[in-house]
Amino acid sequence: MKLAIGGKGGVGKTTIAASLSKAFLQKGYHVLAIDADPNATLASAFGIPDASDITPIVKMEELIYERTGAKPGSIGGMFNLNPRVDDIPERFSKTVEPGLRLMVMGAFKTGGGGCYCPENAMLKALVTHLLLDRREVVIMDMEAGIEHLGRGTAQAVDRLIVVVEPGRRSIETAKTVKRLASDIGLRRIGVIGNKVRGREDEEFLLRNMEGFEILGMVPYEDAVVKADMEGQPPYMAFPRLLEEMGKVADALLKRT
Ligand SMILES: Nc1ncnc2c1ncn2[C@@H]1O[C@H](COP(=O)(O)OP(=O)(O)OP(=O)(O)O)[C@@H](O)[C@H]1O
Ligand SMILES: [Mg+2]
Repeated sequence: MKLAIGGKGGVGKTTIAASLSKAFLQKGYHVLAIDADPNATLASAFGIPDASDITPIVKMEELIYERTGAKPGSIGGMFNLNPRVDDIPERFSKTVEPGLRLMVMGAFKTGGGGCYCPENAMLKALVTHLLLDRREVVIMDMEAGIEHLGRGTAQAVDRLIVVVEPGRRSIETAKTVKRLASDIGLRRIGVIGNKVRGREDEEFLLRNMEGFEILGMVPYEDAVVKADMEGQPPYMAFPRLLEEMGKVADALLKRT
């Protein structure tokens, strides 16, 4: 199963991506967590204090050149749009703990979201051609907003999970994401409500997210903020988060 986690800035995408990864791991799955946000922070949500030894894929100039036939930073021109990528996760990921690996995509030096450049071809091919065993899950922590939908890195996922918080703006973003996702043929969209402070918040989300598949709700919890400040995994500080993600994982396994 391949999952991408999106939504408005700051709603808790990275928190959810790390916690859902841990939940699948606990169920005996092998998890490849991919930080697909140019501003990469997923490592810290796994409690990795120094992520400097994880080289982002887009920074591997020689590898990109070897596989696509073009130098990173070049736009247009001729290059292989379908580079071989099957060995990359194995070679270029960091083991967070047994069964859980982390790969970082990194930021482009040039070009916008939908750029026709070798880096994007690599990232797209990576997600598209990753072959998974039955007990394997890929979880991608996406960039905030909608730009990545133009880049198409999430195009090959089985489900796009949009994180929303009780508030109009995150709901507007979720609706835009849904519309644009469906434009590129991605129709399986689920929602996780986060930072829910009680009944009223939950009802607000249910009322405003009609037509979306609600996968779960996570309460607002100060310990999650504190964990972020201390560089600890949020699911360690707040076990309920892991419990909720366990339920989300079960629902996803049943419906996929
Ligand atoms: N359930 C929660 N309760 C309280 N705080 C939370 C909760 N979930 C996330 N947060 C806090 O909200 C902030 C943003 O979380 P996070 O970095 O996961 O969001 P994001 O959507 O990945 O942000 P960005 O758009 O910058 O990538 C962090 O300080 C985090 O600790
Ligand atoms: Mg994030």
